[in-house]
Amino acid sequence: MDAERHGAREGLSASEERIRLILDSALDALVTIDHTGTITGWSRQAETLFGWSAGEALGRLLSETIIPERYRAEHTQGLERYLATGEGPLLNRRIEVSALRRDQNEFPMELAITPIRSGNRVSFSAFVRDLTERKRAEAALRESQELLEGIVNSSDDAIISKTLGGIITSWNPGAERLFGYTAQQAIGRPMLMIFPPERRGEEPGILARIGRGERVDHFETVRVRADGTRVDISATISPLRDADGRIIGASKIARDITERKAHERKLQAQLARLHLLEQITRAIGERQDLHSIFRVAIHSLEEHLPIDFGCIALHEVAGQPLEIACVGTRSQALAPELALAEHAQIGSDENGLGRCLRGELVYEPDISASPFPLPGRLARGGLRALAIAPLSVENKVFGVMIAARREPASFASADCEFLRQLSEHLALAARQVRLHSALQQAYEDLRQSQQTVMQQERLRALGQMASGIAHDINNALSPASIYAQSLLERDETLSESARESLRVIHRAIDDVGQTVSRMRMFYSQREPQLALAPLDLNDLLQQVARLTRARWSDIPQERGIVIDLKTDLAPDLPRIMGAESEIRDALTNLVLNAVDAMPEGGTLTLRTGVSNGADREASAAPQVQVEIRDTGVGMTEAVRSRCLEPFFTTKGERGTGLGLAMVYGMVQRHSAELEVESELGAGTTMRVIFPTAWLRDVQQP
Ligand SMILES: Nc1ncnc2c1ncn2[C@@H]1O[C@H](COP(=O)(O)OP(=O)(O)OP(=O)(O)O)[C@@H](O)[C@H]1O
Ligand SMILES: [Mg+2]
Repeated sequence: MDAERHGAREGLSASEERIRLILDSALDALVTIDHTGTITGWSRQAETLFGWSAGEALGRLLSETIIPERYRAEHTQGLERYLATGEGPLLNRRIEVSALRRDQNEFPMELAITPIRSGNRVSFSAFVRDLTERKRAEAALRESQELLEGIVNSSDDAIISKTLGGIITSWNPGAERLFGYTAQQAIGRPMLMIFPPERRGEEPGILARIGRGERVDHFETVRVRADGTRVDISATISPLRDADGRIIGASKIARDITERKAHERKLQAQLARLHLLEQITRAIGERQDLHSIFRVAIHSLEEHLPIDFGCIALHEVAGQPLEIACVGTRSQALAPELALAEHAQIGSDENGLGRCLRGELVYEPDISASPFPLPGRLARGGLRALAIAPLSVENKVFGVMIAARREPASFASADCEFLRQLSEHLALAARQVRLHSALQQAYEDLRQSQQTVMQQERLRALGQMASGIAHDINNALSPASIYAQSLLERDETLSESARESLRVIHRAIDDVGQTVSRMRMFYSQREPQLALAPLDLNDLLQQVARLTRARWSDIPQERGIVIDLKTDLAPDLPRIMGAESEIRDALTNLVLNAVDAMPEGGTLTLRTGVSNGADREASAAPQVQVEIRDTGVGMTEAVRSRCLEPFFTTKGERGTGLGLAMVYGMVQRHSAELEVESELGAGTTMRVIFPTAWLRDVQQP
């Protein structure tokens, strides 16, 4: 029996031992107590956990061993209540409590208490797990989450997350500031709400890239704020993954780059303007006339600045109204409506235009209510913003460049600066053109006076030759004339037929003599004894008309041709000093040439007049001019340039070519001037201009 009991006890302790071994190897500590709260079981893990060895712990009150003092009463009450009522709210579930180690340090533990009834005795077992590590890890996680949240919340950048379907899932204060929606308004709505309509197409592309696990870096685009305004942003969008690495959405960090973009745009605009300026200056450099320079400049402004209306107005003399010199091609449609077409006049005012004419660039953001004439006219054409730039050379304003736009206040300061620079270039180009044309004029004048000198020189040489020939012919003719004359007078033996031959010879010699004397008249120095007398050119001209009547009236009439004579004689014509017969002969020659030039008839005008000579000083003595004008065949340029030369004629046998040479001789001897104006097929005007200063000198006592 003893042996049996012993055997049974042994069997029992063997199974206890096995359980103990299992429990000792369990992860959790196992503690058991009896109904008085005394420790009855203490596993190896309990030893390590609480610092009490099993030997020390067994038999101690649990509450005094591992329960912090402040919970001990509660523990005892709970135990008593369970024993009395069988109720224990903390039993059979996992609870977290604080426990004491032997060294009195508290630590968090998790435990599950199970009551064990055997007969009417109750004991309790509890599995205990140290939570210190887990709590620490949890705290660390919480901390790092809070840190992250803090960073996200305090970021200046917008940080947003969205699902792969594009629905917003988070929205930080930076996003609230940037886009103007609160987190509440944004979360749950589609990301597309901040896309401008023309950029909606970007979203599928972005989502596709995110779906492939790609990141979109520094993507520059435009979004719309809650108030409808646009904002330039740079966004970096990355895939968001769950714990298993699956992509579940995207995070987006966006930054406002409006300012940078504005800077970039400003820089771009500046570069574009610089380019335009260069283009315009190159184009105007290739041109030499002012009008096309202005046209190119205004046209470029219309096209590229751009402007709605542009023109250039100039004035010769400060204080006088400006005249529109050029209106832009596109502005022309508007010009008549504004009364600002080319050649229209603009009076200066006491306002912008006046200031501009004093050299200032003037900008008026809105001219709609301007009472002044120029802005008033522009405003009536629907223009609002006006810029006027002066065109000046050496501090003298000679014109203005006018640029206007329909949009009020639409010229930025950079635009104004551009207009100012352009106006400087234009003024320089205008000055260049003026210098160039002045130079050309000077060359032309020089060429003409050179030609005149050469012609005079040629005429002088020809004249000298002619009078030399005349002298020799005269010498050779005089014996022939004398002998022919004396034979006719003295020799009575001559037959009638010989006498007739001699008469013919004598007449021929006479004719040659006449020609020779005309030749000599062409180049004879004015001899001192040349009878100069005060002459009335009106009288003289009337005499010439009478003397030549047969040629311009009778003979043509016989042939059925009509030449009208018009006389236009200035009353009170000052008298000139001259040799009457010479002038009469010369005028006769001119009238005969005019008649010759009108074989089909026409009008012959004889006119006298007084002129002060445009290029002479006002104080100079007046000049008297005689004009013989015909409506005949006219002269070619070649004939006109040679008509004064002796022996130059286009009349063949009928002309000697000495008429105008003689006229020229007379003109020279009277210090007069001869002007030849002729147009082929339209007629010729020969004008002799006599000075009267002579007369004053001569007549003064
Ligand atoms: N009024 C004119 N209309 C057209 N041609 C003219 C006129 N006057 C002169 N000429 C041209 O000038 C040339 C020279 O004129 P000029 O008077 O010296 O000589 P001419 O008339 O030909 O001969 P002459 O006068 O000796 O009879 C003329 O042959 C003619 O071609
Ligand atoms: Mg003639």
